[in-house]
Amino acid sequence: MEREFISWSDDLSVGIQELDEQHKVLFNLINRLFNEAFIMRNASVASEVLTELVQYTIIHFAVEESLFRIFNYPAYEGHKAQHAELTSQVMALKDRVEHGEEINAELLSFLRGWLKKHIVQEDKRYTGFFAEKGMQKNWAKKSWLGKIWK
Ligand SMILES: [Fe+2]
Repeated sequence: MEREFISWSDDLSVGIQELDEQHKVLFNLINRLFNEAFIMRNASVASEVLTELVQYTIIHFAVEESLFRIFNYPAYEGHKAQHAELTSQVMALKDRVEHGEEINAELLSFLRGWLKKHIVQEDKRYTGFFAEKGMQKNWAKKSWLGKIWK
C-alpha cells in the first residue's frame, strides 16, 4: 500500500483550482518518489519519477509565470528568481541521483520542505492580487490539467 509522505491540505490552496491541481500533481510525484525509493526499493523507477518531477516543475512554473506576465504581477522578478533557484536545486538532485547517489531521507525531506515553503511563502501572495485584477471566480474553479497528469 502506498504511504503518504507529503499531504496536501486546504490551507495550501492558492484559490485557483488549476494551480492547486498542479501543486497536487507535484505532491503526488514526491509521494511516488518516496514509495519507489523507500517502500518498493526500486532505484531505477525512483530515478524516473525524479526526472518526471523536474519536468513537471518546469511546466508548472512556466504556467505561473505566464499568469504573472498577463496580470502584470509586481513581484514577478522575485518570484521568477525563486522558481529558477528551485528548478536548479531539483535538477542538481536529479543529476546526483543519475550519477549513483542514493535517494535518501534527507533528499525527500528537502523536497517536501521546498515545495510546501514555496506555496505558503510565495504562491499564496498572488491569490489576492489576481482577485483584485478581476480574476473570475467561476474560472478559478475550473481545471483540466489535473485530469491528464496524475
Ligand atoms: Fe511559484
